Order: sequence, then structure tokens, then C-alpha cells
Amino acid sequence: MSDQSVAFTRLRMTDCKGDGEAVKSPMELYEKLSEQGDKVRTLKSAKAEKAEVDAAIQLLLKLKMDYKQLTGQEYKPGCPPSENSAENGSVADDCDDEVNPWNVTTSNAKGVDYDKLIVRFGTSKVDQELVDRIERVSGQKPHHFLRRGIFFSHRDMHQVLDAYEKKKSFFLYTGRGPSSQAMHVGHLIPFIFTKWLQDVFDIPLVVQLTDDEKYLWKDLTLEQCHQFAVENAKDIIACGFDINKTFIFSDLDYMGASPEFYRNVVKVEKHVTFNQVKGIFGFTDSDCIGKISFPAIQAAPSFSNSFPHIFGDKKDIQCLIPCAIDQDPYFRMTRDVAPRLGYPKPALLLSTFFPALQGAQTKMSASDANSSIFLTDTAKQIKNKINKYAFSGGKDTVEEHRKYGGNVDVDVSFMYLSFFLEDDEQLEKIRQDYTSGALLTGELKKILIETLQPLIAKHQEQRKQITDETVKQFMTPRPLNFKL
Ligand code: TRP
Repeated sequence: MSDQSVAFTRLRMTDCKGDGEAVKSPMELYEKLSEQGDKVRTLKSAKAEKAEVDAAIQLLLKLKMDYKQLTGQEYKPGCPPSENSAENGSVADDCDDEVNPWNVTTSNAKGVDYDKLIVRFGTSKVDQELVDRIERVSGQKPHHFLRRGIFFSHRDMHQVLDAYEKKKSFFLYTGRGPSSQAMHVGHLIPFIFTKWLQDVFDIPLVVQLTDDEKYLWKDLTLEQCHQFAVENAKDIIACGFDINKTFIFSDLDYMGASPEFYRNVVKVEKHVTFNQVKGIFGFTDSDCIGKISFPAIQAAPSFSNSFPHIFGDKKDIQCLIPCAIDQDPYFRMTRDVAPRLGYPKPALLLSTFFPALQGAQTKMSASDANSSIFLTDTAKQIKNKINKYAFSGGKDTVEEHRKYGGNVDVDVSFMYLSFFLEDDEQLEKIRQDYTSGALLTGELKKILIETLQPLIAKHQEQRKQITDETVKQFMTPRPLNFKL
């Protein structure tokens, strides 16, 4: 069993004792540390006696030392001990890459080490064999996101394809947290790919807009979050989804409208403990209870009977979730509970992150205007941002660049082209020319600008065509048109 939520509870260290204390597993120690951190914060904010605060801090420090001794890792809130480090008692990886639903950072200019992440999360690699198989089964050339390792990891894709070959179909589920009006190009990646999957496999899709989640996490009103959901739905629809095969829903609307959906939420809530979500998501005692139970709401759409208007009372239709790998913790939890509820585990296709303009140390973020190219940007804004901010793997002077060549591994413009330039040969030629020094940074940026400008203009044009009526149709619970 590779799902880590299970692994955490399974781990036990047998021969590592601290000063007369009971034996603790890395996970237990991690949980104790989170609790103690909470306690220190509570005492401080309650202006408790200095001696009491000091004692609490002493204990916190001692626990941190124990933790380091036991796991070889520094304690980091929200970064639970990894399976490997606990099993062999040594340092499996330095946990320098932070990847969770709320934060993605690394110190490496090439970006997150995705091979390590596969090991840490216990997912599988999308290898050539799987790509070839998707081609055989779908009868279509694999999408360049698959060919280029952008959707680089998966859970259970072979099972999905086995069943599909036996004429047992599946449905797609993806989502978006509507935290603002402003969607950027990175937000489109899962939707572009999901649209391709919908087309080649001819299957239904549900899209969850977690306006409730954004209300719980951000300083926004319910009305704002709901309105962002409807606005974001337009950008999603503009990706070209088939209205007869797609249901988009806002949690704030659909939770109350569908008893079946809510029943699945409650079932998940009953089968996951506070300790488990603390371990998976790093929640602490001072997080509001809405956050603590939210993962159940993101889990529920993985089960087909959450959508009776689409699937009737069928509860065994396989779900496939295309998403960025930072969402994996939600679905590790979902896969852990699914069998206990009598449901199939959702399969996953997981993507890398879309880097910020300033470099792949972090992903593009809508809250930082200079790190992002927005779907509303004009041709001129696109040009200026790329020229001004896109981190370059080129050399300082033209002479040096000609002599030594540029480094595509850290060059953000090249990374963006690998997402958006479909022609493999052209991309390969750019790689070679930039690496050799024949292509200069300014020239590379120009190619990117000329690739993105028409793409975004087309998106804006398509979005303009979408009426409120169309959005309403997509968001109305109704039967969809498909064969299983
Ligand atoms: N939590 C996701 C976000 O903040 C939104 C989401 C909900 C999602 N369900 C999903 C993303 C399923 C991918 C797949 O963006």
C-alpha cells in the first residue's frame, strides 16, 4: 500500500528512546511538536506568566532536538516526516522542497525535484510505457503535456486503462479554488489537459469550485468567493469543454442542493481523524474547524454517487483526477478512506507546477502580479512582463552567451515554451540553439511572447462569447450525455 496517510499510522520505531519517555514514532513526535507549538502560541497570546511560557518553549526545543535525532530532519510545521526516513532511521531527503496545497517552494533554480517527490509521496512515474499505452488505448497522439513529462506522475492509471479496454469507462474530476477574479496562464494547465482527456476518451467531467475553501482560508466574504467562482467558471468554460458532458459546481451552491453529495462528505468526515488530517495537512489546534473538515468536501466528488443527476445511484464508477501534485494530499486521504466506504479509489494524473516569471523556485501566484501572466493581460503587458521579469538562463553579455551558451534548465522562457509550444521539433531546435549560444535571450523571449500573445488573445475572445446563460447551464445539476 503506497498511500502515505496509511503509512504514517503504520510506522513504529522500536529502539529509539528519549530520556525515560515512552517510545515514539516520528509521526507521534511530529504531532506532539505541532501540539507544543500551538501551546506556546496560545500562552504567548494569552500573555501567560513568563516562567510558564519559558517552560513551554524549553519543552518545544527539546522535542525539536529529539525529532532531529530520530529522523535526521529538521522539524518543519506542515512537513510531516517522510516514510523512508522513518523506516531506515536515516535522512531520506532534506525536505528542502516544500510542496503542499498552500505552498510550493524550493531553493533549486531548476524547480522542485520531481523524482524525489514521487518517492516522498509514493506515486508512480508517467514513463514511456504508460504514454505509449495511453496512445494505444485512446487512438490519439499523446498530449504534449504527457510527451514532455508535465503530467509526470500518476496513481493507478494502468488500472483505469485496463478497465477502459474492457469497455468499463470512467469519469473525470478536477477543480479550482476561486480566490480572485484573476486567473493566470498556469491555472489553465490542468484544464487544457482535462479537456484533452474528455475529448479523447469521450467521458463526463465534474469541476469543483471550492468557494467554501477560499472563504475559510482567505480574508474574503462568502459573496466574494461565490462571485469569483462564477467568474472563474467562464475562464474554465473558455477552454472548450463540452456542455453536454461537463458539470461545474460551486460548493456553496451544490452542498445544500444535493443530499447525496453531503452524505458522502459526512461519511468521509466520520472516517478520518483529527490526527490524520494534522499529519497529512499540518493543521494545528488553532486552525478553525472549517479547515479541519474541508478535506472531506474535496474528497466527495471522487465518488460517482455524489452526482445522482449524472450517475444515478451508481457508486462504483471509476474517477480520474488530473491536477497539480500539490493537491495530492487531499487524494491520498481520499484513497485511504474510499475502500472503507465501499467506493473505488480515485486514480490521479499529477502535473508539475507552472513556474513564476522570476524562476522555478516557486510557482506562479495570482497574488503577486509581477510573477504572473494573467488571462486578462494585453499583448503589451505580456511583452513587458516577459522582457522585464522572465528569469533567464543566458549569460551576462552577448559575447559570453555566444561562447558558452545558455542554460535551458533554469530559463523560465524556455520552461513556458515547453508548456505552450506544441511543435516538438521547433522546441528541440530552440533548446539546441539556446544551449549552443546561437539563440540569444532576447530572441528566445521574443518567441515566447509571440507564442503567448495569440494564445491569450484567443482565450479572451472565447471568454467574451460566454453568456451568463451558458454559465448557468454548465452549473445546473442535470443529466449528461455519455455511455459507460
Ligand atoms: N483545492 C483546489 C485549489 O485550491 C481546488 C480543487 C478542488 C481541486 N477539487 C479539486 C483541484 C480537484 C484539483 C482537483 O485550487
